[in-house]
Amino acid sequence: MELPWRIHMKAQTLSILLVVGVLSIIGTESIEYKAINCRKHKASITDFGGVGDGKTSNTKAFQKAVNELSKYANDGGSQLYVPPGKWLTGSFNLTSHFTLYLHKDAVLLASQDTADYPVLPSLPSYGPERDPGGGRYASLIFGTNLTDVVLTGDNGTIDGQGAPWWKNFREGKLKYTRPVLIEIMYSDLIQISNLTLLDSPMWNIHPIYSSNILVQGTTIIAPFESANTDGINPDSCANTKIEDCYIVSGDDCVAVKSGLDEYGIAFGMPTKHLVIRRLTCISPRSATIALGSEMSGGIQDVRAEDITAIQTESAVRIKTSIRRGGYVKDVYVRRMTMKTMKYVFWMVGDYGMRASSHSDPSTLPVIQGINYRDMVADNVTVAGSLEGIDGDPFTKICISNVTIGMAAKPRKKGPWVCSNIEGITGGVTPRPCNLLPDKGSMTCEFPEEKLPIDALELQLCSL
Ligand SMILES: *[C@@H]1O[C@H](CO)[C@@H](O)[C@H](O)[C@H]1NC(C)=O
Ligand SMILES: *[C@@H]1O[C@H](CO)[C@@H](O)[C@H](O)[C@H]1NC(C)=O
Ligand SMILES: *[C@@H]1O[C@H](CO)[C@@H](O)[C@H](O)[C@H]1NC(C)=O
Ligand SMILES: *[C@@H]1O[C@H](CO)[C@@H](O)[C@H](O)[C@H]1NC(C)=O
Ligand SMILES: *[C@@H]1O[C@H](CO)[C@@H](O)[C@H](O)[C@H]1NC(C)=O
Ligand SMILES: *[C@@H]1O[C@H](CO)[C@@H](O)[C@H](O)[C@H]1NC(C)=O
Repeated sequence: MELPWRIHMKAQTLSILLVVGVLSIIGTESIEYKAINCRKHKASITDFGGVGDGKTSNTKAFQKAVNELSKYANDGGSQLYVPPGKWLTGSFNLTSHFTLYLHKDAVLLASQDTADYPVLPSLPSYGPERDPGGGRYASLIFGTNLTDVVLTGDNGTIDGQGAPWWKNFREGKLKYTRPVLIEIMYSDLIQISNLTLLDSPMWNIHPIYSSNILVQGTTIIAPFESANTDGINPDSCANTKIEDCYIVSGDDCVAVKSGLDEYGIAFGMPTKHLVIRRLTCISPRSATIALGSEMSGGIQDVRAEDITAIQTESAVRIKTSIRRGGYVKDVYVRRMTMKTMKYVFWMVGDYGMRASSHSDPSTLPVIQGINYRDMVADNVTVAGSLEGIDGDPFTKICISNVTIGMAAKPRKKGPWVCSNIEGITGGVTPRPCNLLPDKGSMTCEFPEEKLPIDALELQLCSL
């Protein structure tokens, strides 16, 4: 509770603040949580004038808190506690060696006023053409060039209040690209855990150009009809682990990316070494896990296991197109349970979106080494729609031990549609297309050695 800025205040104000500060911490000392690092310095948002009445803006309180607490980065780090209440806020920035902890009855309410979101330049791996007006609103919680940041809580809530953003986006009324809920750029060692994220204006969690990222125990909910409310988007990131998340959304539950066309190729930063475990996804209009379509920096070594998808458009969807360059290589998925799906396997070589009219149509993506095994699906419309690119087939596809129960009404085209692909299958029902010959009893690869992110140990911290 020793915050130097208070020392310059009048003694009376100081003592009142201290009492309020102490009161806000009392009763929380017994609360423990797990984090990559515990912090020496502790404060509450009320110490910085925060008011949790759902009406008062806390943007300045959060900015002030982070500015003050950033002074402890090299002295054991700091923790900012958000008590029960509704804390209306605009965009604020994070700092290094910092923990933001939301009480289970704390709700961060995202401001719906565009003026509360600074405008940031376009992402270098996507280029300016993708952003209307050449800019994008900063995320509600934003961090760049940081190390060691924890956003956690006992299932506290961040409510993006996205409805007007979805509406204004659809009506073309927004000047810039919508804000995401949490974006972390150029950073290392990030934990986002045990939070509930509601109704984001756009994507929910967007780590980009970063490494060593843990997303755990996070519930993400947005209406099916909301626009582009992707759950978690690892984008040009190395060593990411997504575990025990429950996502209901209007777009992909997890969307793995790495930049778009010539901008992504020039930036050249892949997403690699990604683990996704124990994810439950409900998304009738999109994928459980999408790879692409922005994958121009490459996607390599993705491991997903113990995934449940219900009433979701597709399980794993690989999306790419000519001009995109890059690659999707070494993808391993096992133990998926699915119920009521349009597609189980879906690969699309002619996805529409592109960065600019001058991207190069001869820049072809490489899709290679895609392994699926040990899956059961029920009430499926299309078992597999696997369509590569003319003159650029998708290769080394392997599917084993997969049982797909088809929906009562069969499709005329049959359960599989394949073109420009090469691979093998074993023990797959219904019988796959001829481009994926049945090799009998065989098992597709899934690497057994752990990734470095699995060795990350969490400490038991107290509030
Ligand atoms: C999240 O909460 C669960 C259940 O309360 C707990 O087991 C887990 O350790 C927590 N994870 C983190 C990273 O805080
Ligand atoms: C957060 O940081 C970014 C990049 O440094 C900056 O443009 C933005 O204005 C900052 N936001 C706030 C609320 O200070
Ligand atoms: C953040 O890191 C990137 C990549 O290293 C660098 O280009 C950029 O200048 C840094 N920004 C700040 C504000 O330090
Ligand atoms: C967290 O809260 C959400 C929304 O209220 C709820 O659906 C979810 O089950 C809760 N998670 C845990 C671990 O309590
Ligand atoms: C099967 O899927 C269809 C949609 O394709 C859905 O309307 C129906 O309720 C599902 N049946 C079962 C038994 O879940
Ligand atoms: C096939 O997959 C199921 C899960 O869908 C699993 O229980 C079973 O052990 C697998 N069989 C083999 C031979 O690996």
